[in-house]
Amino acid sequence: MAALALGLATAGRAAADDGYRLWLRYGHPAPAGAVAVRGASPMLDAAAAELRRGLPAVAGPVLLASAADPSIAALNLPVSRLGEEGYLVRRGRVDGREVTLVTGNTDRGVLYGAFALLRHLDTGGSADAIDLSSAPKVKLRILDHWDNLDGVVERGYAGRSLWDWWTLPDFKDPRYTDYARANASLGINGTVLNNVNARAESLTAPYIAKAAALADIFRPYGIKVYLSARFSAPIELGGLKTADPRDAAVAAWWRAKADEIYRAIPDFGGFLVKANSEGQPGPRDYNASHADGANMLAAAVKPHGGIVMWRAFVYADTDPDDRAKQAYTEFKPLDGKFADNVIVQVKNGAIDFQPREPFHPLFGAMPKTPLVMEFQVTKEYLGFATHLAYLGPLFTEVLDAKTGRGSETVADVVDGTAEHHRLTGMAGVANIGDDRDWTGGTFNQANWYAFGRLAWDPDLHADAIAREWARATFGASPGVVDPVVAMMMISREAVVDYTGPLGLAHLMATGHHYGPGPWVSDLKRPEWNPVYYHRADRQGIGFDRTRTGSNAVAQYAPAVAKLYANPRTTPESELLWFHHLPWDYRLKSGETLWDGLVHRYDRGVATVAEMRATWQGLKPFVDPERWDKTATFLAIQEREARWWRDASLSYWQSVNGLPLPAGSAAPAHDLSWYKAQTPAFAPGNPK
Ligand code: GCU
Repeated sequence: MAALALGLATAGRAAADDGYRLWLRYGHPAPAGAVAVRGASPMLDAAAAELRRGLPAVAGPVLLASAADPSIAALNLPVSRLGEEGYLVRRGRVDGREVTLVTGNTDRGVLYGAFALLRHLDTGGSADAIDLSSAPKVKLRILDHWDNLDGVVERGYAGRSLWDWWTLPDFKDPRYTDYARANASLGINGTVLNNVNARAESLTAPYIAKAAALADIFRPYGIKVYLSARFSAPIELGGLKTADPRDAAVAAWWRAKADEIYRAIPDFGGFLVKANSEGQPGPRDYNASHADGANMLAAAVKPHGGIVMWRAFVYADTDPDDRAKQAYTEFKPLDGKFADNVIVQVKNGAIDFQPREPFHPLFGAMPKTPLVMEFQVTKEYLGFATHLAYLGPLFTEVLDAKTGRGSETVADVVDGTAEHHRLTGMAGVANIGDDRDWTGGTFNQANWYAFGRLAWDPDLHADAIAREWARATFGASPGVVDPVVAMMMISREAVVDYTGPLGLAHLMATGHHYGPGPWVSDLKRPEWNPVYYHRADRQGIGFDRTRTGSNAVAQYAPAVAKLYANPRTTPESELLWFHHLPWDYRLKSGETLWDGLVHRYDRGVATVAEMRATWQGLKPFVDPERWDKTATFLAIQEREARWWRDASLSYWQSVNGLPLPAGSAAPAHDLSWYKAQTPAFAPGNPK
């Protein structure tokens, strides 16, 4: 046994791995002649090239062919249900020859089928009975890059932007192709190249040419390019006096701009817009509505088949109402007022990508409007790239939430089951940069992976996705996969526990958002301060969002509103999001709110220690480069989990004067020490 373990260990440790290959870690190129293609197109070529890179011999000869090919059509395969993007992969006889057939109604379907076959074999699927078939449930599966033209990525923790705007469009870094391969392997079919806090320059001729070069590279992989548009561009670039969406000259400027973009990028996807949010210009500057603004832009791209993704992430410094209510207040009355090529993009929760938020009340509340789910893959509030937090459970928790309209879930709203909208979408704020391993740490790759898989099928389970990813990333040995999956599945809850348990949120330090800052109360806008969110005082803690408070609960459908109106029926994980409760409120466990809070902070720290121990045990089985980096990051995480816990507890104690429950250690320092900890140059911070 010992000898066997040693043998494995040597084999595992020998293969150095810098993480560049992501989950596409093929062993050997396929034998010559193993992959045949019927027809010719850049997409079929891309599919064949991928299989040739890594198809294991067990697959036998593989044939890539469109379902419309006469010999395939003659097989009467169930291809109608595949739609335009689905695939079917099957062992069978074609023209008298036994092959693994990869087919679909389109070349794109064939491309996705090729990746599905590789995934199947790579994650332990049998080679004998290959029969795979799937079609995406969501139409727009998009990564949003918050990349600035100067190469800095807002909330990016994995280096600089992948896009080298300086050398584009001439130099086509091979890495752009690898980016497209990775996305195509998941079925991601769109990418927004630039930050939602957009510069008008991205719409000038030189930048359109650069975007067009990227679009050319991505096209064979089925990925469309989109741009974030700055609403005031007609003023900044066009010299107009206004950007009022009802002004004919403004509309004409955007039409001409769209025509110019489509001449360079015929399949340009369209615009993403952040308007009247955090200082961005927008239609409200002219007393026009968000629908007026979106529809004007939509009309400009409509003749070309483009769309507008209009973000609902709005809250105004002039609005004294609960920030959690403002997007709903602004957008709900606009339901039914958007053009048919507009899709409203809504963050998963009503504040801002916190480690846990209840689902956004707009889901289920705008039946006449298609809504894109916006998740944040980059971990702005979950420890950047350093802390291990697998986001699969965060994503699925929101998707699986019941909206309160019958049995409808948020996923039903997003994938169109609920209202049968023509457009459906899921967007993920990318965690990708030019770090060698793309995401600033191996486990962050899993979040890109999970986002892509869930965009394809929002009903997938987070643990199944984790297992798939772990096998592809670390190899098939259960000795590695099981513990890795176990670590992943407890990791997000650990972050919730040590940063903001029981529904607390927005307790982080200012600007960069790294580390604790529950005491912060001096920022200009009230809703930028953590004290606005936790409202702790000597008597209690939490934000009353019931009728006696902001009544945000009333924005949910009655069935859900009723649950959230009462602390006894509110899930404890969301308790203080909706209720202000006395410190001695009794939790379901019988302990007081204060004791339960402390115990959760303790549990968060303990869970990280447990993850670290698990990873130590995997040392013999993981290559040194990836193992060392993760081990170091887990050590940082454990130290910082303690920092979060201790800082938070010393602050809460300064407010409530209560002793810690027996067995809980006193914070290592006093409150003033924690208040003084401010990293000066944290990455990803725009200010
Ligand atoms: C957060 C984030 C900003 C970002 C904004 C958005 O507030 O901190 O950097 O611009 O979300 O989603 O627009």
